[in-house]
Amino acid sequence: MIVSLIVAKAENNAIGKNNDLIWHLPYDMNFFKTTTKGHHVIMGRKNFESIPEKYRPLPGRPNIVVTTQDAYEANGATIVSTIEEGLEIAKQANDDEPFIIGGGQIYKYAIDNGMVDKLYITFVHESFDADVYFPEVDLTKWQKTSELFHPKDEKHAHGFTICAFEMP
Ligand SMILES: NC(=O)c1ccc[n+]([C@@H]2O[C@H](COP(=O)([O-])OP(=O)(O)OC[C@H]3O[C@@H](n4cnc5c(N)ncnc54)[C@H](OP(=O)(O)O)[C@@H]3O)[C@@H](O)[C@H]2O)c1
Repeated sequence: MIVSLIVAKAENNAIGKNNDLIWHLPYDMNFFKTTTKGHHVIMGRKNFESIPEKYRPLPGRPNIVVTTQDAYEANGATIVSTIEEGLEIAKQANDDEPFIIGGGQIYKYAIDNGMVDKLYITFVHESFDADVYFPEVDLTKWQKTSELFHPKDEKHAHGFTICAFEMP
């Protein structure tokens, strides 16, 4: 099993504001959907709550929500108290690639603790005002394995590049 992380981040590492995403990029949203489909997705309690009620749990993949609250309930999602516990559930279910899907606190914990084997990063080519940021990652230590540029167009207010990185 490899552990993957998927994020869309701005040039200044911004990823969220007011417990919401900052941009609307349908192509990238679809990339997220198709990439994570069928795999366990592990997310922080705030990220789960940021998903509009009618879209959660994210369909077609087991949703795992990390919280320190004992009695937390999230309809249709499995609740765990650590990311490690979430990964263990994925492993027991023979998932070959569970995904850490944020938000900021969960990304930071996973990166700082060396839990991630593969990064899917969408680089949004702009800077934004935000209240949640992606942690600093030294990408020179990673090997870029794919790259796809999508220009700004009528459906996308910002240009972006979707990349994948693996440990060499
Ligand atoms: N751009 C992107 O790709 C992307 C992706 C995902 C999310 N986001 C954005 O990120 C923002 C949310 O991120 P966030 O940093 O505020 O919150 P978060 O990481 O989604 O959730 C934080 C919560 O998770 C629980 N938690 C965190 N670390 C834990 C640990 N080590 N052990 C157990 N529980 C832990 C705690 O829940 P309790 O307080 O319940 O204990 C904590 O309050 C939103 O704006 C969202 O839109 C952006």
